[in-house]
Amino acid sequence: MPDGTTVDYDGLIPNNVGLSDDLRVRRALETWHPGYIDWWRQMGPEGFQERLVYLRTAVGVGSEGWAKFGFVRMPEYRWGVLLAPAVEDRKIGFGAHKGEPAWQDVPGEYRAMLRRLLVIQGDTEPASVEQQRHLGATAPSQYDMRNLFQVNVEEGRHLWAMVYLLQKYFGRDGREEAEELLRRRSGDQDSPRMLGAFNEATPDWLSFFMFTFFTDRDGKMQLAALAQSGFDPLSRTCRFMLTEEAHHMFVGETGVQRIVQRTCEAMRDAGIDDPTDVERVRALGVIDLPTLQKKANLHFSLTLDLFGNEISTNAANAFNAGLKGRFREDKLTDDHVLVGATYPVLRLRDGMIMREDVPALSALNMRLRDDFVDDASAGVTRWNRVLERAGLEFRLRLPHVAFNRRIGEFAAIHADVDGNLLSEEQWRTRQGSLLPSAADNEFVISLMQPAQAPGAFASWIAPPRIGIDNKPGNFEYVKIEA
Ligand SMILES: [Fe+2]
Ligand SMILES: [Fe+2]
Repeated sequence: MPDGTTVDYDGLIPNNVGLSDDLRVRRALETWHPGYIDWWRQMGPEGFQERLVYLRTAVGVGSEGWAKFGFVRMPEYRWGVLLAPAVEDRKIGFGAHKGEPAWQDVPGEYRAMLRRLLVIQGDTEPASVEQQRHLGATAPSQYDMRNLFQVNVEEGRHLWAMVYLLQKYFGRDGREEAEELLRRRSGDQDSPRMLGAFNEATPDWLSFFMFTFFTDRDGKMQLAALAQSGFDPLSRTCRFMLTEEAHHMFVGETGVQRIVQRTCEAMRDAGIDDPTDVERVRALGVIDLPTLQKKANLHFSLTLDLFGNEISTNAANAFNAGLKGRFREDKLTDDHVLVGATYPVLRLRDGMIMREDVPALSALNMRLRDDFVDDASAGVTRWNRVLERAGLEFRLRLPHVAFNRRIGEFAAIHADVDGNLLSEEQWRTRQGSLLPSAADNEFVISLMQPAQAPGAFASWIAPPRIGIDNKPGNFEYVKIEA
């Protein structure tokens, strides 16, 4: 029996779930594997598949030393099935089954709901790889290119994680869902990915950093809620995914931070102290701060849509069933059942945005969204320290949750970044100052000149403080001349 902390690397699929003794699931995964590799070659990073990339691979699931670094060609990456160690005598922590032993098998009454949760989470993982597949060619440095590819292979592994659960616990319909996960394509007219933000283009590196900062953070929140699940294999799966996800947050947060830093330096060197003097700032080959704010507005609002409707019976059902908890459920001190409890939610009432207490169970999406906003705000505060240190008064901020929404209460209205309602006409005139315009996007794209020599960086981004795996600044993370 696997002890749950060491990973078996002998077979085709590295794992710590005892695949060598589980013939049925091993066969199912081995049958799925060629389709996955086809998908990776077609839809994974374009142009660098044969290059050696300095990547980390999980070799254990303990809290320390779980990854090792080495040069790998991406299609040869060892995508595996890794679960965090089991917690002895784990109990369901919330909902109607609170206190009962955690399920090691799918509870029959919740089978459909659980499958749906796995499929929705699973669908986002390959989607982001597809969205980011053209970015290698314009990477602003080898360091960034390597981080992109690291995120990509790990999203691929997250797909494996969900597919394992489908194959192991759902038999035939699980296998069908696993095939469908390889068939849908981000942005495809006929067979798009399931959620809106995962069908948007990621055409440039600023979009990539904003995506990893905001949209991967939605992933983090969803995984954290599923890590609380009473279905123990899902909980263990998500707990391990969260260790990898932390790097994705890091890539997004430090990516934007380095852009802010570079802009500040260039402005200082040129003696520009008005950040809104966009033309002069852009002439320096850096991204002006108002454009960064507009990009943040866009990605924040797209990501909020992923949390779904303000009032949701699905969310209530998943909680009651013990399948999906709240963020850090095990650290919360209420009764974890929430019958009769209320939660304040912003709603549209008589054409005004009002706070309203609603049953806490039906507001679980909003609670998770609020936790997301707090988590993202902390990152924005760290970006602003760079501006503060540079002596600028400009600050980045998150827009109001009613701004630019397509799902939920606020899809019906227009609001500015402070939550003031705008008429259709006001929205049309102000949109260009709140969201990136075509000209803003063109400018950003014009900066996307690759910097491929070891230690070189594009004009618009500062080098990182420390290399990956403590490597020096001129380390060759991707062997471009293969
Ligand atoms: Fe992921
Ligand atoms: Fe991620």
